[in-house]
Amino acid sequence: MALGASIEILDLRHFAATLLRPVLDAEGELWKQRLHWDYRTSARLLMQYLDNHMLPGYAAIEDEQVTGYVFCVYEDSKAVIGDVFAVPNQLEGADSSHSVEETLLRHLLELLLNSPQVERVESQLLLHPSGSHAAIFQAAGFQIYRRLFMVQTLTGPLKPPQISPASGLELRAWSDEDLAPAARLIAEAYRGHPDSYINDQYRSVHGSMRFLNNIVRYAGCGAFSPQVSHVVVERSSREVVGLILGSRVSPQSGHITQVCVHPNYRRRGLARMLLSLAAYWFTRQGATEISLTVTEANAEAIDLYLAEGYLCKHTFDAAVWRRRAMA
Ligand SMILES: CC(C)(COP(=O)(O)OP(=O)(O)OC[C@H]1O[C@@H](n2cnc3c(N)ncnc32)[C@H](O)[C@@H]1OP(=O)(O)O)[C@@H](O)C(=O)NCCC(=O)NCCS
Repeated sequence: MALGASIEILDLRHFAATLLRPVLDAEGELWKQRLHWDYRTSARLLMQYLDNHMLPGYAAIEDEQVTGYVFCVYEDSKAVIGDVFAVPNQLEGADSSHSVEETLLRHLLELLLNSPQVERVESQLLLHPSGSHAAIFQAAGFQIYRRLFMVQTLTGPLKPPQISPASGLELRAWSDEDLAPAARLIAEAYRGHPDSYINDQYRSVHGSMRFLNNIVRYAGCGAFSPQVSHVVVERSSREVVGLILGSRVSPQSGHITQVCVHPNYRRRGLARMLLSLAAYWFTRQGATEISLTVTEANAEAIDLYLAEGYLCKHTFDAAVWRRRAMA
Protein backbone atom coordinates (compact mmCIF):
# COMPACT_ATOMS: atom_id res chain seq x y z
CA MET A 1 0.00 0.00 0.00
CA ALA A 2 2.49 2.62 -1.06
CA LEU A 3 1.47 6.28 -0.86
CA GLY A 4 3.59 8.72 -2.89
CA ALA A 5 7.29 7.95 -2.78
CA SER A 6 7.91 7.24 0.88
CA ILE A 7 4.74 6.71 2.94
CA GLU A 8 3.35 3.28 3.63
CA ILE A 9 0.06 2.40 5.32
CA LEU A 10 0.29 -0.78 7.40
CA ASP A 11 -1.88 -2.72 9.86
CA LEU A 12 -1.65 -1.02 13.27
CA ARG A 13 -1.46 -4.40 15.04
CA HIS A 14 2.11 -4.87 13.77
CA PHE A 15 3.39 -2.00 15.91
CA ALA A 16 4.46 -1.89 19.53
CA ALA A 17 3.32 1.10 21.59
CA THR A 18 6.83 2.62 21.88
CA LEU A 19 6.91 3.12 18.11
CA LEU A 20 3.83 5.34 18.35
CA ARG A 21 5.00 7.31 21.36
CA PRO A 22 6.32 10.36 19.41
CA VAL A 23 3.02 10.55 17.51
CA LEU A 24 0.98 10.32 20.72
CA ASP A 25 3.19 12.98 22.36
CA ALA A 26 2.67 15.36 19.43
CA GLU A 27 -1.05 14.67 19.54
CA GLY A 28 -1.08 15.29 23.31
CA GLU A 29 0.34 18.77 22.71
CA LEU A 30 -2.52 19.58 20.35
CA TRP A 31 -5.16 18.29 22.82
CA LYS A 32 -3.62 20.56 25.44
CA GLN A 33 -3.44 23.60 23.18
CA ARG A 34 -6.81 23.28 21.50
CA LEU A 35 -9.04 21.80 24.23
CA HIS A 36 -7.04 22.13 27.50
CA TRP A 37 -7.29 18.38 27.77
CA ASP A 38 -4.58 16.16 29.27
CA TYR A 39 -4.27 13.38 26.71
CA ARG A 40 -1.81 11.26 28.74
CA THR A 41 -4.43 8.98 30.36
CA SER A 42 -6.04 8.22 27.01
CA ALA A 43 -2.60 7.72 25.46
CA ARG A 44 -1.63 5.24 28.20
CA LEU A 45 -4.80 3.23 27.61
CA LEU A 46 -4.18 3.26 23.88
CA MET A 47 -0.61 2.07 24.39
CA GLN A 48 -1.84 -0.92 26.42
CA TYR A 49 -4.11 -1.90 23.54
CA LEU A 50 -1.28 -1.39 21.07
CA ASP A 51 1.03 -3.62 23.09
CA ASN A 52 -1.65 -6.30 23.17
CA HIS A 53 -1.80 -6.01 19.36
CA MET A 54 -5.58 -5.79 19.67
CA LEU A 55 -6.36 -2.45 18.12
CA PRO A 56 -7.84 -2.57 14.59
CA GLY A 57 -6.51 0.29 12.49
CA TYR A 58 -3.62 1.52 10.37
CA ALA A 59 -0.27 3.22 10.88
CA ALA A 60 1.43 5.59 8.44
CA ILE A 61 5.16 4.91 8.05
CA GLU A 62 7.58 7.45 6.64
CA ASP A 63 11.36 6.92 6.58
CA GLU A 64 10.85 3.91 8.86
CA GLN A 65 9.09 6.04 11.50
CA VAL A 66 5.44 5.88 12.47
CA THR A 67 4.06 9.33 11.65
CA GLY A 68 0.32 8.77 12.03
CA TYR A 69 -2.40 6.32 13.04
CA VAL A 70 -6.11 5.64 12.93
CA PHE A 71 -8.02 3.10 15.00
CA CYS A 72 -11.49 1.81 15.71
CA VAL A 73 -13.19 -0.36 18.30
CA TYR A 74 -16.01 -2.81 17.70
CA GLU A 75 -19.22 -2.99 19.73
CA ASP A 76 -21.22 -5.92 18.39
CA SER A 77 -22.07 -4.99 14.78
CA LYS A 78 -20.99 -1.35 15.21
CA ALA A 79 -17.52 0.08 14.68
CA VAL A 80 -16.52 3.35 16.37
CA ILE A 81 -13.61 5.23 14.82
CA GLY A 82 -11.74 6.41 17.90
CA ASP A 83 -9.13 8.74 16.50
CA VAL A 84 -6.96 9.72 13.55
CA PHE A 85 -3.81 11.77 13.84
CA ALA A 86 -0.64 12.43 11.83
CA VAL A 87 2.37 14.50 12.80
CA PRO A 88 2.92 17.41 10.40
CA ASN A 89 5.98 16.98 8.24
CA GLN A 90 8.43 19.77 9.24
CA LEU A 91 9.16 20.68 5.62
CA GLU A 92 5.65 20.42 4.19
CA GLY A 93 3.62 21.86 7.13
CA ALA A 94 0.07 21.16 8.32
CA ASP A 95 -1.28 20.16 4.88
CA SER A 96 0.98 17.11 4.90
CA SER A 97 -0.58 15.73 8.11
CA HIS A 98 -4.07 16.39 6.74
CA SER A 99 -3.44 14.31 3.64
CA VAL A 100 -1.88 11.47 5.68
CA GLU A 101 -4.92 11.51 7.99
CA GLU A 102 -7.23 11.35 4.97
CA THR A 103 -5.30 8.38 3.59
CA LEU A 104 -5.47 6.60 6.94
CA LEU A 105 -9.22 7.24 7.15
CA ARG A 106 -9.74 6.06 3.58
CA HIS A 107 -8.04 2.75 4.40
CA LEU A 108 -10.08 2.24 7.56
CA LEU A 109 -13.37 3.13 5.85
CA GLU A 110 -12.60 0.72 3.03
CA LEU A 111 -11.94 -2.03 5.58
CA LEU A 112 -15.09 -1.33 7.62
CA LEU A 113 -17.51 -0.75 4.75
CA ASN A 114 -16.34 -4.00 3.15
CA SER A 115 -16.78 -6.02 6.35
CA PRO A 116 -20.28 -7.53 6.05
CA GLN A 117 -20.60 -7.94 9.84
CA VAL A 118 -20.25 -4.16 10.31
CA GLU A 119 -23.76 -2.67 10.15
CA ARG A 120 -22.99 0.78 11.49
CA VAL A 121 -19.96 3.06 11.84
CA GLU A 122 -19.82 6.08 14.16
CA SER A 123 -17.08 8.64 14.57
CA GLN A 124 -16.57 11.80 16.60
CA LEU A 125 -13.15 13.26 15.92
CA LEU A 126 -13.21 15.84 18.69
CA LEU A 127 -9.74 17.19 18.06
CA HIS A 128 -10.32 17.96 14.38
CA PRO A 129 -12.19 21.17 13.47
CA SER A 130 -15.56 20.72 11.78
CA GLY A 131 -15.21 20.22 8.04
CA SER A 132 -11.59 19.08 8.13
CA HIS A 133 -12.38 15.43 7.28
CA ALA A 134 -16.04 15.81 6.32
CA ALA A 135 -15.52 15.28 2.58
CA ILE A 136 -13.99 11.84 3.00
CA PHE A 137 -16.83 10.68 5.25
CA GLN A 138 -19.49 12.15 2.97
CA ALA A 139 -17.95 10.50 -0.08
CA ALA A 140 -18.26 7.16 1.74
CA GLY A 141 -21.98 7.78 2.43
CA PHE A 142 -21.77 9.09 6.00
CA GLN A 143 -24.19 11.63 7.48
CA ILE A 144 -22.38 14.52 9.20
CA TYR A 145 -23.63 16.30 12.34
CA ARG A 146 -21.80 19.42 13.47
CA ARG A 147 -21.05 19.61 17.18
CA LEU A 148 -19.87 22.44 19.43
CA PHE A 149 -17.21 22.32 22.14
CA MET A 150 -18.31 24.93 24.68
CA VAL A 151 -16.40 26.33 27.64
CA GLN A 152 -17.45 28.21 30.76
CA THR A 153 -14.81 30.12 32.72
CA LEU A 154 -15.26 29.48 36.42
CA THR A 155 -15.27 32.60 38.48
CA GLY A 156 -16.19 31.06 41.93
CA PRO A 157 -16.52 31.13 44.88
CA LEU A 158 -20.12 29.97 44.46
CA LYS A 159 -22.68 28.52 46.81
CA PRO A 160 -24.06 25.04 46.07
CA PRO A 161 -27.65 25.33 44.82
CA GLN A 162 -30.39 23.56 46.78
CA ILE A 163 -33.62 21.90 45.76
CA SER A 164 -36.90 22.77 47.48
CA PRO A 165 -38.22 19.87 49.65
CA ALA A 166 -41.73 20.86 48.48
CA SER A 167 -40.82 19.82 44.93
CA GLY A 168 -41.09 16.11 45.79
CA LEU A 169 -37.55 15.75 44.52
CA GLU A 170 -34.27 14.96 46.21
CA LEU A 171 -30.79 15.95 45.10
CA ARG A 172 -27.78 13.81 45.95
CA ALA A 173 -24.26 12.97 44.85
CA TRP A 174 -23.76 10.11 42.40
CA SER A 175 -23.35 6.57 43.69
CA ASP A 176 -22.83 3.35 41.73
CA GLU A 177 -26.38 2.20 42.57
CA ASP A 178 -27.58 4.97 40.26
CA LEU A 179 -26.23 3.20 37.15
CA ALA A 180 -29.42 1.28 36.27
CA PRO A 181 -31.95 4.10 36.97
CA ALA A 182 -29.63 6.58 35.19
CA ALA A 183 -29.58 4.30 32.14
CA ARG A 184 -33.41 4.27 32.15
CA LEU A 185 -33.45 8.07 32.34
CA ILE A 186 -30.98 8.49 29.45
CA ALA A 187 -32.98 6.16 27.18
CA GLU A 188 -36.15 8.16 28.00
CA ALA A 189 -34.57 11.63 27.77
CA TYR A 190 -32.99 10.96 24.34
CA ARG A 191 -36.01 9.36 22.65
CA GLY A 192 -36.13 10.83 19.11
CA HIS A 193 -33.30 13.22 20.04
CA PRO A 194 -30.59 14.23 17.48
CA ASP A 195 -27.91 12.71 19.75
CA SER A 196 -29.54 9.30 19.45
CA TYR A 197 -28.80 9.38 15.69
CA ILE A 198 -25.14 10.11 16.44
CA ASN A 199 -24.72 7.59 19.26
CA ASP A 200 -27.08 4.63 19.06
CA GLN A 201 -26.30 3.69 22.69
CA TYR A 202 -28.82 6.36 23.72
CA ARG A 203 -31.65 4.43 22.04
CA SER A 204 -31.96 1.67 24.63
CA VAL A 205 -31.50 1.11 28.34
CA HIS A 206 -28.87 -1.55 27.58
CA GLY A 207 -26.92 0.84 25.32
CA SER A 208 -27.20 3.68 27.87
CA MET A 209 -25.80 1.32 30.50
CA ARG A 210 -22.83 0.69 28.22
CA PHE A 211 -22.35 4.43 27.76
CA LEU A 212 -22.47 4.98 31.54
CA ASN A 213 -20.08 2.14 32.32
CA ASN A 214 -17.59 3.57 29.86
CA ILE A 215 -17.77 7.03 31.49
CA VAL A 216 -18.03 5.99 35.13
CA ARG A 217 -15.95 2.82 35.35
CA TYR A 218 -13.47 2.92 32.47
CA ALA A 219 -12.46 6.61 32.37
CA GLY A 220 -13.74 6.74 28.77
CA CYS A 221 -13.84 10.55 28.90
CA GLY A 222 -11.41 11.79 31.56
CA ALA A 223 -11.31 10.80 35.25
CA PHE A 224 -14.91 10.44 36.46
CA SER A 225 -15.70 12.65 39.46
CA PRO A 226 -18.40 11.23 41.80
CA GLN A 227 -18.17 14.48 43.80
CA VAL A 228 -19.24 16.62 40.83
CA SER A 229 -21.80 14.12 39.50
CA HIS A 230 -25.34 14.32 40.94
CA VAL A 231 -28.78 12.84 40.48
CA VAL A 232 -32.26 14.23 41.07
CA VAL A 233 -34.56 11.52 42.43
CA GLU A 234 -38.36 11.56 42.49
CA ARG A 235 -39.21 10.78 46.11
CA SER A 236 -42.39 8.81 45.47
CA SER A 237 -41.00 6.42 42.84
CA ARG A 238 -37.25 6.59 43.71
CA GLU A 239 -36.64 7.01 39.96
CA VAL A 240 -33.80 9.25 38.75
CA VAL A 241 -35.39 12.15 36.83
CA GLY A 242 -32.32 14.32 36.26
CA LEU A 243 -28.59 13.85 36.26
CA ILE A 244 -25.27 15.49 35.63
CA LEU A 245 -21.97 13.64 35.22
CA GLY A 246 -18.58 15.32 35.39
CA SER A 247 -14.99 14.22 34.78
CA ARG A 248 -11.62 15.89 35.16
CA VAL A 249 -9.81 16.19 31.84
CA SER A 250 -6.85 18.21 33.17
CA PRO A 251 -5.87 20.06 36.37
CA GLN A 252 -7.49 23.21 34.99
CA SER A 253 -10.54 21.71 33.26
CA GLY A 254 -13.64 19.80 34.19
CA HIS A 255 -15.86 18.25 31.53
CA ILE A 256 -19.61 17.57 31.66
CA THR A 257 -20.05 14.16 30.06
CA GLN A 258 -23.83 14.05 30.50
CA VAL A 259 -26.71 16.27 31.58
CA CYS A 260 -30.34 15.31 31.07
CA VAL A 261 -33.76 15.72 32.60
CA HIS A 262 -36.84 13.49 32.24
CA PRO A 263 -39.42 15.04 29.82
CA ASN A 264 -41.98 15.30 32.68
CA TYR A 265 -39.64 17.55 34.67
CA ARG A 266 -38.37 19.94 31.99
CA ARG A 267 -38.47 23.75 32.09
CA ARG A 268 -38.41 23.85 35.89
CA GLY A 269 -34.79 24.95 36.12
CA LEU A 270 -33.37 21.49 36.97
CA ALA A 271 -30.66 21.44 34.28
CA ARG A 272 -29.63 25.00 35.18
CA MET A 273 -29.39 23.97 38.85
CA LEU A 274 -27.35 20.83 37.99
CA LEU A 275 -24.93 22.89 35.88
CA SER A 276 -24.30 25.36 38.68
CA LEU A 277 -23.87 22.50 41.14
CA ALA A 278 -21.20 20.97 38.88
CA ALA A 279 -19.57 24.41 38.55
CA TYR A 280 -19.48 24.69 42.34
CA TRP A 281 -17.78 21.30 42.80
CA PHE A 282 -15.33 21.77 39.92
CA THR A 283 -14.35 25.13 41.46
CA ARG A 284 -13.86 23.43 44.85
CA GLN A 285 -11.56 20.93 43.11
CA GLY A 286 -9.42 23.78 41.75
CA ALA A 287 -10.61 23.76 38.14
CA THR A 288 -10.81 27.11 36.35
CA GLU A 289 -13.08 26.11 33.48
CA ILE A 290 -15.70 23.57 32.41
CA SER A 291 -16.21 22.22 28.92
CA LEU A 292 -18.96 20.19 27.30
CA THR A 293 -20.00 19.15 23.80
CA VAL A 294 -23.40 19.66 22.19
CA THR A 295 -24.90 18.92 18.81
CA GLU A 296 -25.67 22.03 16.75
CA ALA A 297 -29.25 20.80 16.20
CA ASN A 298 -29.88 20.68 19.98
CA ALA A 299 -31.00 24.32 20.14
CA GLU A 300 -32.63 24.09 23.61
CA ALA A 301 -29.45 22.82 25.22
CA ILE A 302 -27.35 25.46 23.42
CA ASP A 303 -29.72 28.18 24.71
CA LEU A 304 -29.26 26.81 28.19
CA TYR A 305 -25.45 26.73 27.94
CA LEU A 306 -25.25 30.24 26.47
CA ALA A 307 -27.49 31.53 29.26
CA GLU A 308 -25.12 29.91 31.78
CA GLY A 309 -22.11 31.68 30.25
CA TYR A 310 -20.66 28.89 28.10
CA LEU A 311 -19.02 30.02 24.85
CA CYS A 312 -18.32 27.98 21.74
CA LYS A 313 -14.53 27.53 21.48
CA HIS A 314 -14.28 24.82 18.84
CA THR A 315 -16.47 22.81 16.48
CA PHE A 316 -16.06 19.24 15.27
CA ASP A 317 -18.01 16.64 13.31
CA ALA A 318 -19.86 13.51 14.28
CA ALA A 319 -20.20 11.11 11.33
CA VAL A 320 -22.56 8.13 11.04
CA TRP A 321 -22.87 5.41 8.41
CA ARG A 322 -25.51 2.68 8.24
CA ARG A 323 -25.44 -0.34 5.97
CA ARG A 324 -28.53 -0.37 3.79
CA ALA A 325 -30.34 -3.67 3.48
CA MET A 326 -29.74 -5.17 0.01
CA ALA A 327 -32.90 -5.40 -2.12
C1 LIG B 1 -31.56 20.22 27.64
C2 LIG B 1 -32.20 19.78 28.95
C3 LIG B 1 -31.14 19.11 29.81
C4 LIG B 1 -32.75 21.01 29.65
O1 LIG B 1 -33.29 20.59 30.90
P1 LIG B 1 -34.34 21.48 31.72
O2 LIG B 1 -34.31 21.05 33.14
O3 LIG B 1 -35.65 21.45 31.04
O4 LIG B 1 -33.71 22.94 31.56
P2 LIG B 1 -34.03 24.20 32.50
O5 LIG B 1 -35.45 24.15 32.97
O6 LIG B 1 -32.98 24.28 33.56
O7 LIG B 1 -33.86 25.36 31.43
C5 LIG B 1 -32.95 26.38 31.60
C6 LIG B 1 -32.94 27.24 30.33
O8 LIG B 1 -32.53 26.47 29.19
C7 LIG B 1 -33.25 26.90 28.02
N1 LIG B 1 -34.16 25.82 27.59
C8 LIG B 1 -34.31 24.63 28.18
N2 LIG B 1 -35.23 23.88 27.50
C9 LIG B 1 -35.65 24.65 26.48
C10 LIG B 1 -36.60 24.45 25.42
N3 LIG B 1 -37.28 23.30 25.28
N4 LIG B 1 -36.77 25.46 24.52
C11 LIG B 1 -36.08 26.61 24.63
N5 LIG B 1 -35.19 26.87 25.63
C12 LIG B 1 -34.97 25.90 26.52
C13 LIG B 1 -34.03 28.11 28.46
O9 LIG B 1 -33.17 29.23 28.32
C14 LIG B 1 -34.27 27.79 29.92
O10 LIG B 1 -34.53 28.92 30.69
P3 LIG B 1 -36.06 29.40 30.94
O11 LIG B 1 -36.88 28.18 31.27
O12 LIG B 1 -35.92 30.35 32.08
O13 LIG B 1 -36.49 30.02 29.65
C15 LIG B 1 -33.38 18.80 28.69
O14 LIG B 1 -34.23 19.37 27.71
C16 LIG B 1 -32.96 17.42 28.24
O15 LIG B 1 -32.74 16.52 29.05
N6 LIG B 1 -32.84 17.23 26.92
C17 LIG B 1 -32.41 15.93 26.37
C18 LIG B 1 -30.99 15.61 26.72
C19 LIG B 1 -30.03 16.71 26.24
O16 LIG B 1 -30.19 17.28 25.17
N7 LIG B 1 -29.00 16.95 27.05
C20 LIG B 1 -27.96 17.89 26.70
C21 LIG B 1 -26.97 17.19 25.79
S1 LIG B 1 -25.61 18.25 25.36
